[in-house]
Amino acid sequence: MPAGEAAAAGADAARKVFIKTYGCQMNVYDSQRMNDALAADGYSATETIEDADLVLLNTCHIREKAAEKVYSELGRLNKLKAERAARGREMVVGVTGCVAQAEGREIIRRSAAVDLVVGPQTYHRLPEVVRKARGGHKVVETEYALEDKFEHLPAPRKAEVARRGVTAFLTVQEGCDKFCTFCVVPYTRGSEVSRSVAQIVAEAERLAEAGVREVTLLGQNVNAWHGEGPDGSEWGLGRLLYRLAEIPGLARLRYTTSHPRDMDDELIAAHRDLAVLMPYLHLPVQSGSDRILKAMNRKHTAKDYLRLIDRIRAARPDIAMSGDFIVGFPGETDADFEATLAIIRATNYASAYSFKYSPRPGTPGAEMGGHVEEKVKDERLQRLQALITEQQHVFANGLVGRTMSTLIEKPGREPGQVVGRSPWLQPVIVDEKAGEIGDIVDVRITKTGTNSLFAETV
Ligand code: 5AD
Ligand code: SF4
Repeated sequence: MPAGEAAAAGADAARKVFIKTYGCQMNVYDSQRMNDALAADGYSATETIEDADLVLLNTCHIREKAAEKVYSELGRLNKLKAERAARGREMVVGVTGCVAQAEGREIIRRSAAVDLVVGPQTYHRLPEVVRKARGGHKVVETEYALEDKFEHLPAPRKAEVARRGVTAFLTVQEGCDKFCTFCVVPYTRGSEVSRSVAQIVAEAERLAEAGVREVTLLGQNVNAWHGEGPDGSEWGLGRLLYRLAEIPGLARLRYTTSHPRDMDDELIAAHRDLAVLMPYLHLPVQSGSDRILKAMNRKHTAKDYLRLIDRIRAARPDIAMSGDFIVGFPGETDADFEATLAIIRATNYASAYSFKYSPRPGTPGAEMGGHVEEKVKDERLQRLQALITEQQHVFANGLVGRTMSTLIEKPGREPGQVVGRSPWLQPVIVDEKAGEIGDIVDVRITKTGTNSLFAETV
């Protein structure tokens, strides 16, 4: 590093950054990588926004409400920034993530607080952008970078990984080429890009060495991941999972979010063969009506989905299903909605997320006729959620009395308790004598809580 830069980095040593994360797990992962990149530039993370020299909002654009939240937070930040300026301290404010990518410079026009806007493809340039912004420039960086950002981002620091806990996310794939007509992701995260096998294996090994026991592979279309194996052959996600299962210390693997069309034979076989691959699969179907699935450009039918679930369950009988649903897509009739309830009944979910359709600017869905009234969307959402809640309870109650492996994750709220994680992602509350953080122990479920399970040691 040239002497001038070293001096500048030294001057940054006391600077603090506060990152607020909205949206999906990939944003959680990205925020960690941004923290790592800024740490290399002398920034330490703070949990107190008032102390921050740099505030970043890592935003989500998936639904209208998610984007609105960002603008109301920016209003609040504008005041904080002025208060800090009155004390002679600068507060640089940045917007990153999917709203940054979708709205770019418009954010600076709408909010005077904002100094920098950086899209998800250029996080490796963040330290440089922050330096420019500190000099009083407004900086917008939303071009898709030609270089691979992951090659230029510093590797997650071991001490920091250990501090974050025994579970970790690892992005293996980003972006989407599917173009579901409701979705902004192809526009905000760009087209599908897979990280290389070598990069992924190296990062997973590093996580394991830092004490991580459970890794969740992330991608907007994670099962579309593909890459070249060490032998020169083309690998899919299934093959990658077999490889990651060999890493010493990694006891549990998961992946999310998948598209039904990319569940290939090798991936299903991985569920059959790999004990470390947790028996829980998030596989959104969005709707149970073939007419709506077609309008959504999902490129499969309700029957295709149900047949696929049968094949997955044949390979791994204890697998629990999770999904996403949208109610009130343009043109959705009562009969279409009933078909969605029917596919939920037929699948039997352990958990699911459901949303009212939110027209997103620039997506084909927003231009379609037949928008559904808000009141109708509300009613449908309520009915759908009642059904899912019922299934979730049946699933959780069915676990009472059973013994299962649990990864001890953190201290509990009550003294003497620890919180673990079941194979099906439920928090499990158990006596601290069950084991140390990072241990995987067998416990017996005694009763269910609202969103958790209570267990005793065996
Ligand atoms: N409106 C409502 N829900 C949406 N989702 C994606 N786009 C929209 C939209 N425009 C939901 C889908 C997806 C999840 C991440 O968010 O169910 O699977
Ligand atoms: Fe939100 Fe999608 Fe961006 Fe994740 S990828 S932050 S869900 S818009």
